[in-house]
Amino acid sequence: MSPDGGDPGRERLVEVLDSLPAAVVLFHDGAVVYANPAAAALLGAEIAAGAPLDALGSPELADAVRETAETGRALGIDVARAGRQLAVRTAATAGGEVALTLSDLTELRRVEALRRDFVTNASHELKTPVAGIQALAESLELAMQRSPDRAASMVTRLQVEAQRLSQLVRDLLDLTRLEDVDATGVAQERWQRVDLAEVAAVQMERLAAYAEGLGVTLVSEIDAPAVVVGNPSDLRVVVANLVENAIQYNRPGGEVRVTLSRSDAGVVLEVADTGVGIPEPDRQRIFERFYRVDKARSRLAGGTGLGLSIVRHAVEAHGGQITVDSAVGEGSIFRVTLPVASDR
Ligand SMILES: Nc1ncnc2c1ncn2[C@@H]1O[C@H](COP(=O)(O)OP(=O)(O)OP(=O)(O)O)[C@@H](O)[C@H]1O
Ligand SMILES: [Mg+2]
Repeated sequence: MSPDGGDPGRERLVEVLDSLPAAVVLFHDGAVVYANPAAAALLGAEIAAGAPLDALGSPELADAVRETAETGRALGIDVARAGRQLAVRTAATAGGEVALTLSDLTELRRVEALRRDFVTNASHELKTPVAGIQALAESLELAMQRSPDRAASMVTRLQVEAQRLSQLVRDLLDLTRLEDVDATGVAQERWQRVDLAEVAAVQMERLAAYAEGLGVTLVSEIDAPAVVVGNPSDLRVVVANLVENAIQYNRPGGEVRVTLSRSDAGVVLEVADTGVGIPEPDRQRIFERFYRVDKARSRLAGGTGLGLSIVRHAVEAHGGQITVDSAVGEGSIFRVTLPVASDR
C-alpha cells in the first residue's frame, strides 16, 4: 500500500493512518514509503517517504524490519531509542511491505519506576518503627519481672514508636489520596469556606509547647480573616507541616513568623524561620516524597520526608502554589498562595 497512485481506497486508508495516535511506518525494499504524523513526531521528520532503513537511528529497529521483510514473520520488541522506551511491532502486509507500529512507553515506565521506588521507600520507613516496637515488646516481657521502673519507661517508648508508625501510615494515606486528587481533579464536592487565619491560630496554639521546648518563639502576624475554599483537614495539614518544619529546623533562641496577606494572586501564607536554611540544590528536591536534606537530624525528630510533598500536593489540589526562599544559616521562608474564596 503506497499513499500515491490515486486509488480512492488507498487514499482513505492513508487518511485513517494519518489520524492515528500510534506511530506507523511502512517500508518497501528497505526504504520508507509512508510515515504518519505520529511517526514523524516520535522518530523525527527525516522518517519520510524515500528514507533508508538506517534513518531509523536504531540497528535493532532496522534489523526487525529486515527480518520481517525476509521471513514474513511478525515481531514484537522493546527498543530504547534517543532516550525513549518504545514498544515496537512489525508485520508483513499483503502487498509485500513491512508495517512498523511504535508506541512510546517512556512515561509509563517512568511512572512504574516511581511506584516501585515509592513502595521500596515506604516499606523501608515502616520497618524502623516496627522493628523498634518488636524489640521493645520483647524486652518489656523481661523487664516486667525484674525491674518495674524500666518496664514503665519501655511502655512510654513503645507508645512513641507506635505513634510514629501511625503518623507514617496517615501520611502515606494522605499522600496517596492527594496524588489522586491531582490526577483526577475530583473530591471538590465536600469543599467548604475555610478561614486560614483561624487555621493558623489553632495550629500555632497547638505547637506552642513544642516550640517552647526547643527555645523557639512563635510570632503571629495575622490580623484579618483570609477565607479560601477547600478541604479543611488538608488546609490544616498544610499549615501544620510548614509551622512544624519551621520550628524543627530552627535553632534555640530562634523565631518562626507566620504572616497572612492578600496579593493579586490570592491569599498568601508565609512561614518564615531563622533556622538552618536549605542549600540551593536541595531546594528543588525537598518537595519530593522521602527527601530529607539532613537525614540524621530529620530522623531524630521522627521525620520521614513526606511532610512537604503532602503540602505541595494539597496546595496544588486547591489551585495554589508553593515557593521557598532560603539562606543557609539564616533561615527559610515558605510562601503558599491560594485563590481567595470570592474568586471562585
Ligand atoms: N523550614 C525548614 N528549614 C530548613 N530545612 C527544612 C525546612 N523545612 C523542611 N526542610 C528540609 O526539607 C526536608 C523535607 O521536609 P519534610 O517536611 O517533607 O520532611 P521531614 O520534616 O523530614 O519529615 P516529616 O514527614 O515528618 O515532615 C526536611 O528533612 C529538611 O531537611
Ligand atoms: Mg516535616
